Amino acid sequence: MKLLGTGSSLPHLQVSNSDLAKFLDTGDEWIVPRTGIRTRHVISDENLEDLAADAAKKALEDAGLNVSDIDLLICSNVVNEYVTPSLSCVLAYKLGLACPCFDINCACPGFIYAMDMADSYFRSGKAGNVLIVCAEEPTRMVDWKDRSTCVLFGDGAGAAVFGKGDNLKGIRLSSEPAPDKICEYRKLLPTPYISKEENEVPMLMKGKDVFRFAVTTSVRDIHGILDEAGISIEDVDYFMIHQANLRIIDGIRERLGVTEEKFPVNIADHGNSSSASCPILLDECRRKGMFKEGDILVFSAFGAGLLSASAVLMC
Ligand code: ACO
Repeated sequence: MKLLGTGSSLPHLQVSNSDLAKFLDTGDEWIVPRTGIRTRHVISDENLEDLAADAAKKALEDAGLNVSDIDLLICSNVVNEYVTPSLSCVLAYKLGLACPCFDINCACPGFIYAMDMADSYFRSGKAGNVLIVCAEEPTRMVDWKDRSTCVLFGDGAGAAVFGKGDNLKGIRLSSEPAPDKICEYRKLLPTPYISKEENEVPMLMKGKDVFRFAVTTSVRDIHGILDEAGISIEDVDYFMIHQANLRIIDGIRERLGVTEEKFPVNIADHGNSSSASCPILLDECRRKGMFKEGDILVFSAFGAGLLSASAVLMC
């Protein structure tokens, strides 16, 4: 597969750490050194599907393709206002797409999981062009009275169009199932037969465990895929790491022994936008003209599950 175009879309409202300090006992002095986050985009009067459609249209335009050229739409999403139909169906309706479409919920590594599925469709000859849209509103998952989680997240959508090609040089998906590390429960409607107790609980996270998992799996996966692909760390042009936390990104970079210039970051003004973070970063870097043909990008992401994934993609 080969990257043909990218797009992204962010909510207009930006909420700074000082804005949060108006209703929470927090501020720059705690949030910045621990996370690198200064401000984040937060959904207010927008709908997630509109951000997703905006990102998708920009990616199609960048790729020079029309909706009729797309054979498959994959949406990566954890939460949105619809239970059914899937976000991909809502998005397909907005875009005027009539190809097969489905959602995946793989938390933060969703973009790389979607790339892996797209690759399978290309290999089996079932698709010529695939549109991946990662649209997330994690700010609707957290308790805004819980300063240990709500300060970490931001919303947004990132999209990428892939066509046939042999630019995917390696991909690795892995899991260490531990549902209690990052979890959220929702209550379903009652029936006459439900006797079990059900709770609605906003996102709970064991931050230190997630931190350890993120750094160790990312370093392991990156070394693994590069070894398999026969590419040395020095030959990688950019490491596109899930923007969860600057300390996690720095921890990965230091363990890999790579300089800061090869680790683009946008966490300071985005926060953690779950699976949208990698494609938003990809789009922002592409639009700045950072990549040239033949550049080697390594993606790595980790999150609830616990799931992790890495990929090597040549521009
Ligand atoms: N402002 C001020 N104080 C706070 C805040 C806040 N926003 N949040 C927590 N504190 C307090 C705590 O109450 C605690 O106080 P106490 O010692 O009096 O009890 C103190 O700060 C220290 O809290 P710790 O949890 O020990 O802080 P830590 O240094 O571990 O940092 C953090 C917490 C930033 C969440 C860290 O564990 C982390 O980055 N984990 C990774 C989380 C992550 O990135 N998750 C997302 C990845 S997966 C995904 O994308 C869904």
